[in-house]
Formats: sequence, structure tokens, C-alpha cells
Amino acid sequence: MEKPSGANAVPIIDMVSRLRSRLGRAAKRYLGKLPGQPPDPIGPSGQPPIDPFDAIPVSRISRDTTATTRPIVEAADPASLESVWPYRRDQGHLGQLSPDSQEEYLRRFEPLNPAHCHWYHEIPTADGERIVGAWDLNGNEAVYLGHVDFDGKRVFELGPATGQLTWWMEGEGAEVVAFEAGLDQSNDLIPYGRTVTAETRDNAMNFVAAVQRSWWWTKVEHQLRASVAYGSVYNLPEDLGEFDITVLGAVLLHLRDPFGAMMQVAARTNDTIVVTDLEPPRPWSPTEMRFNPVEGDHSSWWVITPGAMGRMLSNVGFGEQTITRHTQWHRPGHVASAEPIEMSMYTIVARRD
Ligand SMILES: C[S@@+](CC[C@H](N)C(=O)[O-])C[C@H]1O[C@@H](n2cnc3c(N)ncnc32)[C@H](O)[C@@H]1O
Repeated sequence: MEKPSGANAVPIIDMVSRLRSRLGRAAKRYLGKLPGQPPDPIGPSGQPPIDPFDAIPVSRISRDTTATTRPIVEAADPASLESVWPYRRDQGHLGQLSPDSQEEYLRRFEPLNPAHCHWYHEIPTADGERIVGAWDLNGNEAVYLGHVDFDGKRVFELGPATGQLTWWMEGEGAEVVAFEAGLDQSNDLIPYGRTVTAETRDNAMNFVAAVQRSWWWTKVEHQLRASVAYGSVYNLPEDLGEFDITVLGAVLLHLRDPFGAMMQVAARTNDTIVVTDLEPPRPWSPTEMRFNPVEGDHSSWWVITPGAMGRMLSNVGFGEQTITRHTQWHRPGHVASAEPIEMSMYTIVARRD
């Protein structure tokens, strides 16, 4: 009599579980690779090698659908709003964290009309409702930020958008300094052709200003202590000071030179850098970072694998790393009426070694 096919399955299950445990051990070593190692080989068939990242379990988070949400349906075209860009200050962009400067910025972004904001986050209002936004991180902020303890910490947050994480970290006891492109420095734009036109740059910065206005709305709505500075991430103002923690949430993919930005923030961070980014589409080679222009999108430069991110962090002195995988809710195309879908993300908590 032939053996039932289930009997043959036992050694295969054994093999799979041995492989999983090897992958698990490899995953622990994965991010601790030293800079200067040769790149990971591509397998003999031209396929990328097995990635230990795959052995890390994914936290699939739930979405609280009980909150009352307020869609801002009549959002203004950012191009139609009075421009807050460019805005000149002294060359070093100094003094921005002073109460006077913060007041000056608030005045520039007023009126804080919700229809003049771009809602990147589905942000809670003071009365417990929510304004519909592109990313709903509500209740999952700790997962998004790798369960780091923010109490009593001075935090540098690059690219806060609407400020959901600013609001949440401050609620956890952090003093947050946010930083965005602005003043006379635009965000980094992919050229598609010989150069980026002045019109493309103005449109992009008017859009960024609508996002920045939503951050000011959040600050005023929740009476936050947090402050914000603007300028170039490649040349951070000297007087921002030092930080315990830096948060880089879904921002490095939007920078022409993510490693240059990482060098800048690492030099000012004493303890921890938290990086959260999108899992790139497969297949990938484990330490790959891929140039990713998509015609019409001027600001999504890269897909960055966790392996590449881990190596960059090690290289700037943050080699003690843990990594988690999770999903977060996103409305495709930033369309308020779109049903949120789950997006796969990873978070690396990297400590100074
Ligand atoms: C995708 S949003 C991420 C928002 C938030 N950090 C999060 O994780 O939910 C990217 C943010 O980075 C900002 N940003 C883009 N390019 C930048 C640059 N060159 N310098 C500083 N901020 C930039 C955008 O304005 C926006 O606030």
C-alpha cells in the first residue's frame, strides 16, 4: 500500500521549521552587519537570496472604526492659496525655536481653515472626533514608532506632516522639535528631464505648505508645546541643539540623499533613531535601495529595504538595532472617500553603539 501523502509531509515540515529557525537566528544578526561588507550575492538563478527579514512576524493591526470622522470635502486647491514660500530668513536659519519665531510662523499660516489644509493624518480633534486623512495611525502610534519610551525625551521629528506623531509623542511626555522643508529650501524634486521647472517647484511647495498648515492646526487644536523649524535637512540650523531620539517616519524615501540626511540627524542624536518606512515591493535583494521615479510623482525617490536602512544606521554609529514589521491603514491616493487599505511597513529602532 502506498503511504498516505501526509506521511511524506513530515520531513518537509521538519525542513521548513529548521529553515525558519535558521532564518530567525539570521534575522537577529541581519541588521548588525558591519559597514564595508561586500554586497549580498544574487543567487545562481539570478534570484535574490532568501531574506531573513521574512522570518520576522508581522503585527497586523486593527482599525478603530467607531470614532466619528469629519471629511473635509471642499478642500481648496493648494495652488489657489496665498503662498508662504519662499520665505527669507538669515542664512543660517537661526533662532527659529524662539517663541517669537513660532508666533511669526503661526501668523503666516493663518487662517487655519481646515479646507486650506492637506490632511496627511487622520487626526483627532480636541472633542474626540477625527478629521479624515490619508493615514490612520490612531491607536497604533506605539507600533509605528517601535514601542520606544518617549517620556522626558527631547525628540527631533523629521517630516511631521499633519502632526499625528507630534501630538502622540508629546502626550507620551516628549518635547518635540519638528523639521520640514521650507523658508527658501524646497523639498527634493525628481527632475524628469533636464531640470525641475520653477512652476513644478512652486506647486510642490504650495502643496507642502497645505500640509504644514495642517501641522499648525494640530498644534493649536491640541495646545501643543512642540515647535517646528524649516530649511534644508542637509544643513540643519546649528542652534536646534541635541536630541535623545530622532524619528524618521516615511520620510527618507522622499529625500534625494537619505544618507546625507541620516548623517545630519545622527550628529545631533545622543541615544536612538527610529526609522519607519514602507516595505518595498518584492522581489528585492536584502540590502538593496532602488531609485524609484514614477512619472508625475516628483517626490518618491527610493524604495529602501530594511537591510539597506540598517546598514546606513550602522554606518552613522547606530548599530544596535531591533526591527519590527506591521501594517498601517492608508487611503489610496490620499482620497478622503477611499476605503483604507493595509500597507506593509517596517520599523527599525537603532541605538547608539
Ligand atoms: C510621507 S510624510 C510622513 C509623515 C510622518 N512622518 C509619518 O510618518 O506619518 C513625509 C513628510 O516629510 C516631509 N518632507 C518631504 N521632503 C522633505 C525635506 N526635503 N525636508 C524635510 N521634510 C521633508 C513632508 O513635507 C512630510 O511632512
